[in-house]
Amino acid sequence: MFSFLKLKKETSLSKDQELREFIRQTTNFVLKDREGVVVEDLQATKAGQAIVVLKVSKSVADSDAEKISNSLKAELEKLTAIDKATIVLTTEEVRKKQSPFADTPVGPQAVATKVPNVKDIIAVSSGKGGVGKSTVAINLALAIAKTGKKVGVLDADIYGPSLPRLAGVVSAKADKKSNDDRLEPIEAHGLKLMSMGFLVDESAPMIWRGPMVQSALLQMVRDVAWDGLDVLVIDMPPGTGDIHLTLAQRVPLSGGVVVSTPQDIALIDARKGLEMFRKVAVPVLGIIENMSYYCCPNCGHREDIFGHGGAKAEAEKLGVPFLGEILLHGKIRELSDLGTPIVIADPESEQAKAYCDLANAVMSNIDQAQKPAPRISMED
Ligand SMILES: Nc1ncnc2c1ncn2[C@@H]1O[C@H](COP(=O)(O)OP(=O)(O)O)[C@@H](O)[C@H]1O
Ligand SMILES: [Mg+2]
Repeated sequence: MFSFLKLKKETSLSKDQELREFIRQTTNFVLKDREGVVVEDLQATKAGQAIVVLKVSKSVADSDAEKISNSLKAELEKLTAIDKATIVLTTEEVRKKQSPFADTPVGPQAVATKVPNVKDIIAVSSGKGGVGKSTVAINLALAIAKTGKKVGVLDADIYGPSLPRLAGVVSAKADKKSNDDRLEPIEAHGLKLMSMGFLVDESAPMIWRGPMVQSALLQMVRDVAWDGLDVLVIDMPPGTGDIHLTLAQRVPLSGGVVVSTPQDIALIDARKGLEMFRKVAVPVLGIIENMSYYCCPNCGHREDIFGHGGAKAEAEKLGVPFLGEILLHGKIRELSDLGTPIVIADPESEQAKAYCDLANAVMSNIDQAQKPAPRISMED
């Protein structure tokens, strides 16, 4: 009977789509009659940011590509709904001078620029998804905050942000600070938080490609008003691909933590994570063994479901610190799902204490990593 309503709903554009359409039209207008430049992708975030990826053919001179990029940026920023536009240029062969990422050499953090007002940045990584990396990241952050430090968490998983759910702020939306170009982080449980989940609709299709993801991530690190943080914990996306390498090189990391489960297969992935940090000369603060063993809540019987101790043995073999183990416990999962991580929901529990021990180990390893090597002076 009300089929027209359904039809209307299906055909009307959402706000996000509408904004994207504006961006598309403006971009097409600027690129009109330009040979060798095509739109590869475009996105809009809720906070009024437009990201456009242009593919530029090699026949277009660098200086022309730069002019096009500048005029597109200027035109997009004239739109009232857009505060900031980021233009990313790519070619089949990566354009050396123009792409903000292409010129990143593999080597020690050559181009990392300091994040204002953030003292230490820790990356929590894992070779693969589902090992409990995000759960470790938030509980670790809360445990560090308990020691009196100001702590933030950045959820760097663009495709599957989990921080809004873990922190119990699923409907929060991040906005620009007044009189400031930066985004205001969301505050929950005493932490400052940023996640793609606070910027775009969960229902919006995520068709981000490499360069856009990198651009968005770097902005989430640098253009957020983290002001006055002692520690920023980055929950890295699963895997060890280009995105990780870029992030590890362009963000001044104090150190990296690798989360693994004890199985051999997870350890192989963890090793890749360690190698990645080493490649870019980021100090490895250590390995954490998650879902280390299972303790029956009724009888206290301990069961080493995944063959406990693998991560510790691996850490010893690779010569990196072993930070500790977190057991597999239903309460950890239940409290995570409720948006109240165990470190704050049940601070006296053994599991919460295990996260606090981890936090102490991580922080003391940062201090060690930052201590200058002893100077050897030769006197005659
Ligand atoms: N120590 C643990 N005990 C029980 N469940 C856990 C534990 N660590 C994580 N989980 C659960 O495992 C699932 C995957 O964890 P998550 O942190 O999202 O992993 P990742 O970020 O590595 O993909 C979640 O449901 C989480 O609640
Ligand atoms: Mg995760």
